Amino acid sequence: MTVAPNAVSSARFGQVASILPDCGSTQDIVRAAALEHAPEGFLAVTDHQTAGRGRSGRTWFSEPGQSLLFSLLLRPDTPPARLAPVTLVAGLAVAEALPVAAHVRWPNDVVVGGAKVAGILTELDVRPDGTSVVFLGVGVNVNVPAEDLPDTDRLPATSLLVELGAPVDRMSLLERVVDSFQAAYREFENRGFRALFDRYAALDALVGAEVTLELGGTTVTGRAAGVDGDGRLVLDLSDGRRAFDAGEVVRVVDAL
Ligand code: BTN
Repeated sequence: MTVAPNAVSSARFGQVASILPDCGSTQDIVRAAALEHAPEGFLAVTDHQTAGRGRSGRTWFSEPGQSLLFSLLLRPDTPPARLAPVTLVAGLAVAEALPVAAHVRWPNDVVVGGAKVAGILTELDVRPDGTSVVFLGVGVNVNVPAEDLPDTDRLPATSLLVELGAPVDRMSLLERVVDSFQAAYREFENRGFRALFDRYAALDALVGAEVTLELGGTTVTGRAAGVDGDGRLVLDLSDGRRAFDAGEVVRVVDAL
């Protein structure tokens, strides 16, 4: 579908949507829609991406028709400097909406038993007037058989099919995940990440783990002590405790 200029903002995320058999990246579909004044909650969903991307410039690959691949357009009131936790909010919402016991792995992974089942990509444009537009991308390995799961250099991958032993309806899942995200995002916009802190902490897969953070040039290794009220990862290092912003961390890997 095409997006009408100055479309009226929809109350429910996903009411204005672009549903595509394939595309390069749904992130680019919502970015283009934003330029055409699409409302907050505009959704782009596809069966297949030819140029799907992940965090830190990585590629996000999936076979056609197996995964849930979508992006949402957000027009937050929260100032750009305080938007980093949106990625965590989305991870939490996805983890809570999946039909398996899932956890969040800071900053953008959703895991089941230590294997990655979903990833979040948050891209931000700050406009000259100081307001921002966020392109929130979500990829969930849904009906991906074990042999098609991507190799990663960091975490093993899994899918809902592998975990449940049965396929999952992707459209119903889309609805659940989008509704879950909308509710969590409203909490974040109204009350900040602190309002979601306890829920995030309850699903935090990293707490207590020895992890190495790649910071673009250097690495630090320490024991994860959870996240703080601003959504930063707190690490206990040999010389004390320090909090890291997702923006400065290129990769999180288990310490050897
Ligand atoms: C990651 O784990 O590094 C983030 C992966 C995000 C993938 C999704 S799929 C839908 C949206 N479009 C993209 O190109 N990427 C995100």
